[in-house]
Amino acid sequence: MIRPRRIGHATFETPDLDQAVAYYDKFMGFIVAEREKDRVYLATKIGQLVIQLNKSDRAHCIKLSFEVAPNCDFGELARELAKDGVRSELRNDSIPGVGQVLSFDDDKGTTIELFKEWSYLGKHEQVAGIGPLKLGHVAFFTPDIQRTVGFYEKVLGFRVSDWIGDFFCFMRCNPDHHTVNFFTGPDVKLHHIAFELKDFIHLQNSCELMGQKKVPIIWGPLRHGPGHNVATYHRNPDEQVVEFFCELDQMKDEELGYFEPRPWHHDTPQRPKRWTPGQTSVWGPPPTPEFHRT
Ligand SMILES: [Fe+2]
Repeated sequence: MIRPRRIGHATFETPDLDQAVAYYDKFMGFIVAEREKDRVYLATKIGQLVIQLNKSDRAHCIKLSFEVAPNCDFGELARELAKDGVRSELRNDSIPGVGQVLSFDDDKGTTIELFKEWSYLGKHEQVAGIGPLKLGHVAFFTPDIQRTVGFYEKVLGFRVSDWIGDFFCFMRCNPDHHTVNFFTGPDVKLHHIAFELKDFIHLQNSCELMGQKKVPIIWGPLRHGPGHNVATYHRNPDEQVVEFFCELDQMKDEELGYFEPRPWHHDTPQRPKRWTPGQTSVWGPPPTPEFHRT
């Protein structure tokens, strides 16, 4: 079993590279770490690689990277993947600051790259935009959610944190309540990508900036039930849903099996469970139709 420790960066194809770079750079407050003709790498203000953009004819999330423990042997991991019927290859993709990667596809065709060596792409910089701390989670539509959840459990060692009904699953690979989530849908497609902000004040400041820049907030601010994060959602220039969040539930001890107690929990203690559709917010407005538009 692979057991990733954290998500690294997400790779997006985009038909308008300049427009996407302007969004991530000027609005989001990421730093352009490296730029090639049809490829741009962006880092957080802290200096961690967070987004790779490739020019293409469509907008699509094609790849996620995950950090594994530094003492992992890629040969051994490749053999374990092979036992699960997954073909992998060692690659030197010349990703800025990242060493060799072990690359394979998950059950729905998204490329997964495992890495263990990386370096910061800059020192902490002041940025004009929102300046999230990190990439928090990525959510996908998948046609066979049981198969996808099974793959992430059995092959990658993720744990189920919560379900909504039988069509939305939240999965963790570290104390964060979720790093990936899966939503039943006809095609494999990004559902949303989420970036962590420092705290509620940072989230409020991001709302003010969205107000100034006339970026509509299509859901929130609200406090979710699953994960209990405070969140807002908007769309980027490629029409993809982007979430800002803070105060996500933490499972600091897997053996205890409950999330760090918080005053907004209704369950005492808060353990992974199945939520009833329509009853998944602690407070806040329901999503707008614009949020649900696919
Ligand atoms: Fe989310």
